[in-house]
Amino acid sequence: MELPKDAKRAKGWLIWTSVVMIAIFLGLTFQSYFYVIKKEPKVTDAVAAGNRVFHDNNCMDCHTILGDGAYYAADLTKVISKRGQGFVRAVLKDPPKITRDLWPGKYKRVMPNLHLTNQNINNLIAFLTWIGELDTNGWPPGSKVLSSKGKAKPLQEGTTSPVSLIKKLNCGACHTIQTQGLNTAGVIGPNLSNESARNRGVDWLVKQIGNPASIPDNEVAKGYEGKRMLMPAFKNQLTADQLKSLATFINNLKEEK
Ligand code: HEC
Ligand code: HEC
Repeated sequence: MELPKDAKRAKGWLIWTSVVMIAIFLGLTFQSYFYVIKKEPKVTDAVAAGNRVFHDNNCMDCHTILGDGAYYAADLTKVISKRGQGFVRAVLKDPPKITRDLWPGKYKRVMPNLHLTNQNINNLIAFLTWIGELDTNGWPPGSKVLSSKGKAKPLQEGTTSPVSLIKKLNCGACHTIQTQGLNTAGVIGPNLSNESARNRGVDWLVKQIGNPASIPDNEVAKGYEGKRMLMPAFKNQLTADQLKSLATFINNLKEEK
């Protein structure tokens, strides 16, 4: 039976719009596949184990991650790029000691000691690093250290520029440095803005930064004697040249009046 002219036209429309819509659908499917699935960082065994430690210890009773959880303490989505591994490791090793000093004001919120083993801490760091590498499109708001892609900005490898090293290693999470264009306000370790006045010398500073445990007790800055295990050893993350350049720079730091 011959279809009337209108019906023929309608059939043509149906077929062609379906073809176009299917093409768009497939196009977007591929696009999101490459955007989301391909770009997602790999889940290693350590990441999966860290996820379990995170849930076994009810971190989300106090913290949020990807916007989910409780609002008692900080959002942890980008904590690794914001604070640095060394800082996060120090928090997890002895939370009361570090978190008591995080908020110098009168509203002190202290994280309880969860007695995590070193293995658990390593796994948690792997997990938090993985979460931090997800493209969260700028979440949480104000994570300034991140590029628009949601990843920590890559810093030049092999640089001996002390300012880049200080930023890359996040010394400012623990130290106040208010000079040389640095504007950090950490309160866990001594203020370094006027380090030249301590007359430490480059060799001493190389030891302190490379391996803080190598400094004898009686040489630790006043008031920080009990906190010396909080600073991570950086010798494995720095070449001899980088360490020297950093120590020289810090040795010369002077408060700007
Ligand atoms: C009982 C509440 C509580 C629990 C449970 C808890 N925390 Fe905390 N955490 C805090 C408080 C309070 C702070 C310090 C104040 C803040 O960061 O808001 C803190 C700080 C931190 C910080 C430093 C954040 C920053 O930006 O400086 C990290 C990292 C952290 N916690 C990780 C964890 C992990 C991982 C777990 C689970 C193993 C956990 N916390 C469980 C209360 C808690
Ligand atoms: C997790 C916190 C933390 C981080 C991160 C950290 N430090 Fe420290 N730092 C401390 C603490 C606590 C002390 C005091 C105890 C000690 O001397 O070991 C300290 C001491 C120092 C001193 C000794 C100052 C003096 O004259 O007595 C220097 C220099 C120093 N840090 C440099 C650095 C540099 C450079 C970085 C980054 C590469 C860094 N720190 C990262 C916590 C930290």
